[in-house]
Amino acid sequence: MDFTNPYIGAKRMRLEQHQLAQAIRLDMAAELDAINLYTTHVDSTDDPLIKAMIQHIVDEEKEHLAEFEQILFRLDQLQHDKVGGAQHEMEERKKAA
Ligand SMILES: [Fe+2]
Repeated sequence: MDFTNPYIGAKRMRLEQHQLAQAIRLDMAAELDAINLYTTHVDSTDDPLIKAMIQHIVDEEKEHLAEFEQILFRLDQLQHDKVGGAQHEMEERKKAA
């Protein structure tokens, strides 16, 4: 089976921008899931070499997530614009705390 072919079982097609944004959100969910899963693996062993290797993978998944986020921001301007509002709200809540 060819695991590198994303079109297995589906006709090869081009996606509209909003459809690609939806696909990227799913990719981001997969990265988040991988981060949580691999972190449990890090926590499950006392072997320092294995811990370090898996932690490296966790860190890479976090980079992938950030990269997908940048792609999503390019595809969805509203999603991008929400970042500033969320940062502002966090700063306001920090001041109030
Ligand atoms: Fe990844």
